[in-house]
Amino acid sequence: MNILITGANGQLGNEMRVLSAQQTQHTYFFTDIAELDITSREAVSQFVTDNAIDIIVNCAAYTNVDKAETDEVLAHKINALAVENLGLSGARVIHVSTDYVFSGEACVPYEETDSVAPRTAYGRTKREGEVLLQAVCPESIIIRTAWLYSTFGNNFVKTMLRLGQEREALGVVFDQIGSPTYAADLAVAIFAAINAPTWQPGVYHFTNEGVCSWYDFTHEIFARAQSLLGKEAADKIASCHLRPILSSEYQYQTPRPHYSVLSKTKIKQTFGIAIPHWTEALQVCLEKLLHD
Ligand SMILES: NC(=O)c1ccc[n+]([C@@H]2O[C@H](COP(=O)([O-])OP(=O)(O)OC[C@H]3O[C@@H](n4cnc5c(N)ncnc54)[C@H](OP(=O)(O)O)[C@@H]3O)[C@@H](O)[C@H]2O)c1
Repeated sequence: MNILITGANGQLGNEMRVLSAQQTQHTYFFTDIAELDITSREAVSQFVTDNAIDIIVNCAAYTNVDKAETDEVLAHKINALAVENLGLSGARVIHVSTDYVFSGEACVPYEETDSVAPRTAYGRTKREGEVLLQAVCPESIIIRTAWLYSTFGNNFVKTMLRLGQEREALGVVFDQIGSPTYAADLAVAIFAAINAPTWQPGVYHFTNEGVCSWYDFTHEIFARAQSLLGKEAADKIASCHLRPILSSEYQYQTPRPHYSVLSKTKIKQTFGIAIPHWTEALQVCLEKLLHD
């Protein structure tokens, strides 16, 4: 099949590129905004026709949660209107969405059928993208994920590795609960959907297994990094005093969901995938980041 990956320079797009090297039965077209701006309906349609694209994997997005609050028009253009463009192109679409479509006030894992109630501009625009896509292309696959990190791009893991070496003390929130997602594992799930014997449209949730707070996540990053880093860097991280703090103690520009845990039963059952625990996934990512 001919597969178009949009937003290919991002975290997930890059992981799709890495994994595609093992999936040589398909032909790939990796594009980011310079090659294909998905906000142009005409450009998307032309690209899909010219290259006989069968499936679009949409990794492009406006992902800056804070900036989206003051830049909602552009966020809406990229996260909503552009997703509609993909749905109108005639290709099948696998679109990636977010836990931010939910209020974050639950205390049991969110199912795909649970009511949405986005609390941020980013969440609203991502939800609108889901709605528009399903309206124009009901056969689409939408995969909601959360707490995404990778060896590529900027993300929480890289920030904590840096701060752990720079700071003597670091406060990280322990009252926001979720499941980290290694983008390489999400790419595996996307390929499972692509290679499934039959196309299985619908909404799915994907994160790594397990649950933690951002504080726990950081604790694990620091512990695992120490055995992978050189002595000087490891000593710096070991001496950084990591402290659990409340969200109310941190100056968030935009409120963050307190609960982001997604139920993964549907994606596991539908595509027969086993999902690594977040600590195992973190180890793989850290080994690549700190050894390669
Ligand atoms: N990051 C997270 O924690 C997280 C959590 C839940 C869900 N998600 C979702 O997961 C997906 C992948 O996220 P990610 O972290 O891999 O995103 P990312 O690293 O921010 O990558 C997104 C890519 O899309 C590109 N892009 C922006 N506007 C575009 C346009 N008009 N046309 C084509 N490409 C465009 C970006 O380019 P520029 O960098 O130049 O803007 C960037 O290369 C997104 O749908 C996101 O909403 C992410």
